[in-house]
Amino acid sequence: MGLLDGKKALITGARKGIGRGIAVTLAREGADVGVNDIVDDAATRQTARMVSDLGRKATVHAADVSKPPEINRIIEDFVRLHGGIDILVNNAIFPDQKRPLFDTDEAYWDRMMDLSLKGYFFAAQTAAKHMVRQGRGGRIVSLSSVHAYRAWKGWTAYGIAKAGLRRMAMGMAVDLAGTGVTVNCIAPGAINNALSDNSLDPAPYDLSAHPSLKNLPTARGGLPSDIANAILFLTSNLGSYVNGETILIDGGMIASGGEM
Ligand SMILES: NC(=O)c1ccc[n+]([C@@H]2O[C@H](COP(=O)([O-])OP(=O)(O)OC[C@H]3O[C@@H](n4cnc5c(N)ncnc54)[C@H](O)[C@@H]3O)[C@@H](O)[C@H]2O)c1
Repeated sequence: MGLLDGKKALITGARKGIGRGIAVTLAREGADVGVNDIVDDAATRQTARMVSDLGRKATVHAADVSKPPEINRIIEDFVRLHGGIDILVNNAIFPDQKRPLFDTDEAYWDRMMDLSLKGYFFAAQTAAKHMVRQGRGGRIVSLSSVHAYRAWKGWTAYGIAKAGLRRMAMGMAVDLAGTGVTVNCIAPGAINNALSDNSLDPAPYDLSAHPSLKNLPTARGGLPSDIANAILFLTSNLGSYVNGETILIDGGMIASGGEM
């Protein structure tokens, strides 16, 4: 018996990093998984293979989830192929998220907000419509960040988006009251997202090579499985009374002042 037996979970940006960790962790607990990413390559297929090797159904849904028509298409495809949707995890992000204030032009702003706010919002809205229609509740989780809690130089646009997701979870939890659909965020700290071909986790960051992390209370770097375990809690019955919340999974970074 797994914590997610019979559940159908769609994970965005699941080709590598935290998204792959979530896909494999939810599959290990019995969920069938849809792997979305903007890149469909050997790594994307590897994530799907890691899910199917656990005996779960795995489907690949290549799409740019900053674009609502593409979001609608993959959610419709996922529902048709899996017979419904119980879990959506909004996880996708592009690289180069750090951008000094005066280099933050309109094109960068739109790119950030189109993916991290607009895309996450409409994916959640579309998945929630299906969940309400199905009448068996559901779980929506978005990846926020420590950047929603405090400012570091050069991260303002990213931080605005990640803070917006905290408010989105609160608002959607209220909007969906009584439906059995919960909406939450996980806010990771410094997680090593390096691609690792066959395993769930790469080695944690070597803290001696990251002076900014030297005071981290939990004296090791974070791993995709640290985040995936928190997502598992929220998406299973264990987390059924958590709603409209954002949970920091940061090894104590924010508690200790988070110098970076
Ligand atoms: N890694 C960290 O330290 C950290 C810290 C705080 C928050 N987060 C958040 O966790 C989530 C996962 O981060 P990660 O470090 O594992 O990322 P990652 O870069 O390892 O993986 C992100 C994936 O998203 C895909 N992607 C990019 N744009 C896309 C789009 N438009 N549509 C579909 N897929 C797209 C990429 O191809 C990539 O495979 C993100 O939301 C990130 O902001 C990460």
